[in-house]
Amino acid sequence: MTVQNPVTAADASSAGQGRMIPGFGNHVATEAVAGALPIGRNSPQHVPYGLFAEQLSGTAFTAPRVENRRSWLYRLRPTATHPAFQPYQGAALLRSAPFNEVPPSPNRLRWDPLVQPERPTDWVDGLVTYGGNGDVGTGVGVGIHLYACNLSMQDRAFFNADGELLILPETGSLRLVTELGIVHVAPQQIAVVPRGVRFRVELIDGPARGYVCENYGALFRLPDLGPIGANGLANPRDFETPIAWFEDVDAPCTLIQKFQGSLWSTELGHSPFDVVAWHGNLAPYRYDLRRFNTINTVSFDHPDPSIFTVLTSPSETPGTANCDFVIFPPRWMVAEQTFRPPWFHRNVMSEFMGLITGEYDAKEDGFSPGGASLHNQMNGHGPDRASYEKAVAADLQPQKIESTMAFMFETRHVIRTTRWAMQTPSMQSDYDAVWSGIVKARLP
Ligand SMILES: [Fe+2]
Repeated sequence: MTVQNPVTAADASSAGQGRMIPGFGNHVATEAVAGALPIGRNSPQHVPYGLFAEQLSGTAFTAPRVENRRSWLYRLRPTATHPAFQPYQGAALLRSAPFNEVPPSPNRLRWDPLVQPERPTDWVDGLVTYGGNGDVGTGVGVGIHLYACNLSMQDRAFFNADGELLILPETGSLRLVTELGIVHVAPQQIAVVPRGVRFRVELIDGPARGYVCENYGALFRLPDLGPIGANGLANPRDFETPIAWFEDVDAPCTLIQKFQGSLWSTELGHSPFDVVAWHGNLAPYRYDLRRFNTINTVSFDHPDPSIFTVLTSPSETPGTANCDFVIFPPRWMVAEQTFRPPWFHRNVMSEFMGLITGEYDAKEDGFSPGGASLHNQMNGHGPDRASYEKAVAADLQPQKIESTMAFMFETRHVIRTTRWAMQTPSMQSDYDAVWSGIVKARLP
């Protein structure tokens, strides 16, 4: 039986933009055609309309209930009908862990923003890996990528078998057409696409640029709040999941997957976005970073930046994340008798930072939206000289840090850079100079 999609192209934006289901990690049931979702069982002998039932597992079948993530998809054809994959030659600057192209650098590193490609380049081919850690084969660590692209994916779809993808647009909004629905994501929002979920990236308002954290490890989740209590930081209700959407298109589509660090492609004779209904708790989601309930000191001292954690991917060691996703949003600074910017420090964790908009309060110059910095394990960093001198001379009135959104991927393992990241002209050769000229303390 042919199922006609009742959602027209004009409706698609409302399906992606306006009609989202609130809540983090919820069990969702959604159908784009009334009656498509089986009732009371997952895999009946006869699925409504002759659809094919398919389970998508994001965790092992036997994962504890609190960890268990899976969804049931009801689609026009099973994904198993695809032809064999062949090696794919695009995305020439995409890399995976282990990162052994060049020795890991202990130096503080910083990069200017990515330059837009001159040739037509879509999101997949526009991915550039700066570094990462762990091992994609054992499910540890992260890959850190930036993207710059000027072309919507047309007759192409992608999925990542190696991990979930946390996508942060910096310039340009994206329309993520996924198997489970449409997600519009703009700068200052994030989207997470689970491992294995097929999607294409369409550009809404011109060339796009942004950041991607590819999480090989445990799925991102909300951090525990401890003494903060039941509310605060990123509140669960502010995460949004798309409703079911599909297209019944019998036309060629190149499906690209990243598998164990390599790209593979196959040719389908149809759109892979043919899921008419689904239910479960494994799905793409969106979050607007401006909804983050920022908590900070109202007395003295600068709290540890973990107070700004949006999502965390835990490791097997309690409190020591495979990756924390942390933001530095607009906020009031009111601490008394306090050096208010981030302090000088050395960290057992390694820190990759990016900037979506505005300025970061520890760096006066040189860290631009679309740029990046890396401060690896145990290497001293902190405010630059200008920011330091300004902070120690400041009249400590309440001050609002306005119109900014910086972020950090903080991870337990050293971030090993790619050869490209160490050789690109966008790497700032003079970054260390931001700390030069700091005058030593004088004893009486
Ligand atoms: Fe730091």
